[in-house]
Amino acid sequence: MAEICVMGLGYVGLPTASLLATAGFDVLGVDVNPVVVESLNKGRTIFKEAGLSTMVAAACHSGNLVAALEPAPSDTFIICVPTPISDEKKADLSLVEQASRAIGPLLRHGNLVILESTSPIGTTRNVVGEVIREHGFEPGMDVHVCYCPERVLPGNTVAELVNNDRVIGGMSPDCAKRAVEIYQRFAQGELTLTNDLTAEMVKLAENTYRDVNIALANVFARVAEDAGIDVWEAISYANHHPRVDVLSPGPGVGGHCIPVDPWFLVESFPAHAELLAKARQINDGQGERMLERMMESGDLVSGDKVAILGAAYKADIDDPRESPAAHLSAAAKAKGLEVAVHDPLVEPGDWHGLMISNDLDDCLGGATAAVLVTNHKEYRSLSAKNFGDRMKGRLIYDSRKWLNHAALRRAGFKVFEVGRSLDQTQADVEVGMGTAGESNVDSGT
Ligand SMILES: NC(=O)c1ccc[n+]([C@@H]2O[C@H](COP(=O)([O-])OP(=O)(O)OC[C@H]3O[C@@H](n4cnc5c(N)ncnc54)[C@H](O)[C@@H]3O)[C@@H](O)[C@H]2O)c1
Repeated sequence: MAEICVMGLGYVGLPTASLLATAGFDVLGVDVNPVVVESLNKGRTIFKEAGLSTMVAAACHSGNLVAALEPAPSDTFIICVPTPISDEKKADLSLVEQASRAIGPLLRHGNLVILESTSPIGTTRNVVGEVIREHGFEPGMDVHVCYCPERVLPGNTVAELVNNDRVIGGMSPDCAKRAVEIYQRFAQGELTLTNDLTAEMVKLAENTYRDVNIALANVFARVAEDAGIDVWEAISYANHHPRVDVLSPGPGVGGHCIPVDPWFLVESFPAHAELLAKARQINDGQGERMLERMMESGDLVSGDKVAILGAAYKADIDDPRESPAAHLSAAAKAKGLEVAVHDPLVEPGDWHGLMISNDLDDCLGGATAAVLVTNHKEYRSLSAKNFGDRMKGRLIYDSRKWLNHAALRRAGFKVFEVGRSLDQTQADVEVGMGTAGESNVDSGT
């Protein structure tokens, strides 16, 4: 019998299972995807994360981590399955329910069940707890139940799982103490104990806070674009105020968390959610805004091709979930533009309607405009010649301040930036090498 059964071996579950196995627990990792299970049992991972492959290989080699398609009786169950939103922006808790139902018949008195998936307030006791009740146990009493959210930054997940502070929400203080015994075996950050409802709100509040503040920065950017002000300069001066910390504007917000989690609050508390829904709309509308600015210049018209550089929602990762590129692509198609999407790291193919290619020549070929969405290292060295040799037109929208604008301009390109008017960008002599904007899409907190 395993000591810990981890349900869902994705970006959160697999590093968690591996850390627990490395800390000495006997861990059964469960995933409904046979590819995940097969690779793990060969000591391999199907996605890249710093330090993960070595740790997974070691955990499997030690015999402490084994993968299976079905759960088995364990002392503790940790649920790390996806909690997406539907097209109608409603929380889809079907996978949490499925995972709970899979462990339901295996539950014994004294077990601990931890939900880690980001969830609407009340999910732990109403969804997971309800399944526990159906199997004859009182959740929080006979079976201990906790909500313990993750705050990891994709790309640095393993280090953050170890070092970040954690909030541990128990249905009772005893439940929380049980979870602490598990996490303290590998976590070095502070463990704060509270109840499940508060812990659920903490997770949603963190990502909603970021979404709303990024939307505010994007509104400032739009004002600056219209007023002929450099928003980066304005923000940097505003941030000299000891109690002001304006974030960076950019192409929108991506990832599995920041663009999703606020909708859980909007759905559950519509009477209080006007600001949150508006922030979502502003951030998702950045792609449309970029296109409108280029089309207003008259150099981009319906029927032209737009090359989107970067399908990953964040630099140097291979994850396209909720990428700003998707909103940009949809807005471009709605305006009658042809769209091609390149990414050097994301698996090529159809990602929910976003056709991703690894072939940069093909993507830029015949394009009137190129929009840089992701500040991958690979794009940093793109020269005016790289664009000029392939593109038909001379429009670049650098939403990340990532390219050498002076060189592009000398080569005859019109360079647009978020938060600066075209006149300002065109007047640049030696700018364009900044990295501002990165912080906005490091979702997964
Ligand atoms: N990825 C992040 O950076 C991050 C950060 C914080 C919180 N979260 C939250 O953690 C949760 C998991 O996210 P993720 O990024 O690890 O997802 P993921 O898509 O990377 O992985 C989830 C895994 O669960 C598996 N799965 C689905 N249904 C299952 C079931 N019934 N039983 C067993 N396995 C099942 C899938 O096959 C997949 O391998 C989500 O709620 C997410 O919001 C993610």
